[in-house]
Formats: sequence, structure tokens, C-alpha cells
Amino acid sequence: MGKLEDQIRAIQRRRFLRYTALTLGGAAVGIPTLKAAAAECKLTEQEILGPMYNYGAPMVQLKLAADDEPGQKLMLRGSVLSADCKTPLANTLIEIWQADDKGVYDKQQPGNFLETIKPHLRGMVLTDAKGRYEIETIVPGAYPIPPGVPGLEKYGNLTRARHIHIKVEPFLHTALTTQLYFKGDEHLAGDPWGGHKPALALAMKQDGKYMKADFDFVLGTGLKS
Ligand SMILES: [Fe+2]
Repeated sequence: MGKLEDQIRAIQRRRFLRYTALTLGGAAVGIPTLKAAAAECKLTEQEILGPMYNYGAPMVQLKLAADDEPGQKLMLRGSVLSADCKTPLANTLIEIWQADDKGVYDKQQPGNFLETIKPHLRGMVLTDAKGRYEIETIVPGAYPIPPGVPGLEKYGNLTRARHIHIKVEPFLHTALTTQLYFKGDEHLAGDPWGGHKPALALAMKQDGKYMKADFDFVLGTGLKS
């Protein structure tokens, strides 16, 4: 048998083992690490920017919501990581905007990103040297999509699941735009966006007056294009 055939057979054997590990479960064939790695390390899914984005969000560091902001207090924290799910991305800008407890945004003109507004529940934080971030806010209220928003006409009056808009902007790489949802939200299953992306739903834990949730953003940095 020629050298090339040996190489092909070796490749086929590796592919078979990988396939078996992914489909049948690694433990059954003694390769647990392949399945674990495939199941756990995934890029964070993208989401639409939405019409309530606005240019010029202020730097807030930690407190997006003031202490007297009505609603359930939420401490959201985690890391921003490269595609290997390990390498932290320090000094990465995280832009965040959301509705208030009643489902109302600080904007009046959906789709006009240059609207002059007084920013409320809208701001930017930077990750620290270890790629970590922390944002103190509230759980946003659910709200209906207004009828007639260009591009979203077919969803007019549909109540969206509670969500937080996020843009993660590393230097030297494309930004990630996404939205975070909440497990157990009655509107999540019917949400045209979040309903198909369970990995973006936060699990919250009560801690005194706060609900706490951890979320790591995994960006495509480090991938070969
Ligand atoms: Fe929104």
C-alpha cells in the first residue's frame, strides 16, 4: 500500500473517531475531550442591531442604572474571550442599551441613530486587563414592536421577550452585535429572534436585592479568515 493511501486511511480513521465522539458521546468510545470541547466552546451568536440603537452612548463603567431606577436590579458580569474560549480580550468596549422596567427606551424615533437624546439605560464599559466586565442595571420590561417600523412590519404589535442589546467592540476585529434574553421569560419562545437562540438566555440567581447573571462573550478573534 502506498504512502498516500496510508495517509488517507489515517485521515478517514480520525474523521470517523471525531464523528463518533460527536454523535454517540465521547465517553462511549473513550474520547471525552473532543465532545466536551465541541459542546462548550462556541462563538456567541449574533443578533440584529434593532431600531433603538443610537450613536454616542456615554462611558458609564459599572452603573448603567442609577440606584433609584425602578425595576428588578441586575448584576451582569463575565468576560470577553477570543475564539478559543480562553484568551481574554482586555480593554474591549461593550456598548449596552435596553428598555426600562416598563419596556420604554430613551429614544422616540426608532431607526434614527442620530436622534438627540438624554441617554438612559444606555452606555459603554471597558473590559479590564483580564477581559472581565461588570454592569449594574435592571431587568428590562417586555415591549410590543410598534406597528410600521421599516423592515419589521410583519412583527407589528408582537411582544418581544425581555432583552438587552449589546455590541462588543474589540480593537483590530469586527464588532459582535447581539442581544441577551432571560430564561423562563414567557415571551421568549415566541420571540422571532431570541426564540431560536437559547444560548443567549441568561440564567439569573437571586442575591439579596440583586439578580445576578454571568455571560461570557466569545468573539471570532484568532480565527483564520
Ligand atoms: Fe430592543
